[in-house]
Amino acid sequence: MSNKIALTGIKPSGTPHIGNYLGMIRPALELAKKYQALYFIADYHALTTVKDADALKRLTYDVAATWLALGLDPEEVVFYRQSDIPEVMELTWILSCFTAKGLLNRAHAYKAAVDDNVALGLSPDEGINSGLFFYPTLMAADILLFDTNFVPVGLDQKQHIEMARDIAQSINSNYGDVLTLPEAAIREEVMTIPGLDGRKMSKSYNNVIPLFAPSDNIRKSVMRIVTDSKRPEDPKDPDTDNVFAIYKYFADQEDVEKVRQQYLQGGLAYSQIKTELYECLEMNFSEAREKYTELMQDWGYLDQVLLKGAEKARKSSVPKMEKIRKAIGID
Ligand code: TRP
Repeated sequence: MSNKIALTGIKPSGTPHIGNYLGMIRPALELAKKYQALYFIADYHALTTVKDADALKRLTYDVAATWLALGLDPEEVVFYRQSDIPEVMELTWILSCFTAKGLLNRAHAYKAAVDDNVALGLSPDEGINSGLFFYPTLMAADILLFDTNFVPVGLDQKQHIEMARDIAQSINSNYGDVLTLPEAAIREEVMTIPGLDGRKMSKSYNNVIPLFAPSDNIRKSVMRIVTDSKRPEDPKDPDTDNVFAIYKYFADQEDVEKVRQQYLQGGLAYSQIKTELYECLEMNFSEAREKYTELMQDWGYLDQVLLKGAEKARKSSVPKMEKIRKAIGID
């Protein structure tokens, strides 16, 4: 195992779905076998949008239970809650004094919110809180506090990692080598998992297949996946079909090849392949679902795991913060 550090944050803003699993959870669990992994629940990031205290709490435990149920081993991975690491907040302020405001103006999420307002004829910053504006600086603090080398994220987060790098560079060029420059680790091949309607699977499109819903809901979701109207006997194109696009990530390689041939030859009804996909999902997730349900009934245990993780994380963040304070002349 390399001693390089892989760190990523999971925003607790929705119940995880299979797009999250393929795009983020599975690759992150793989990466944790190779690197020293720090994975955390970004509850302060979620606060930019989740303003209901009970919901924020529940979503935080939801993420913790999901990752543990899917095999995250808290003895191997340092698994914690962002808000349990006070150094993150302190570093955020320091970094903000080295973050060009213009850089934040160009952040995709902020720009998109401004563009939406303008399109609606509203004032550009209408309804936008400064937390959303400073989001990239908080994220840079998460990353830079732990001398992170790799940040496994989806493509949508690439700009944020580049910003963290820029900010680190501007600190380093002023004070010398204080911060490690991070790199995004993006898995190109599973970047966009289609949702039920064929658009990217995303909570905001309401087109997701949930990971741990009751089995019957999952079956219903799978049956709703949009296909073209080819009849069972017609040859079909596996490379443009939404069912196949998901199936290929869950079935054995051999089965995927077999089904691909059946698509091309014709004779396979969409309803059949949907049933197969549903069965694959059951095989993959029914055990994890039970574990998840159990964990969600024991928030005390989840707290214990997360606090232990925070304790481990602070073994690095406290001395790192001392070093940074010293470098800037506040110690
Ligand atoms: N912004 C990330 C997302 O929405 C979550 C996140 C917060 C994060 N801090 C991070 C990801 C640090 C990687 C590293 O998915």
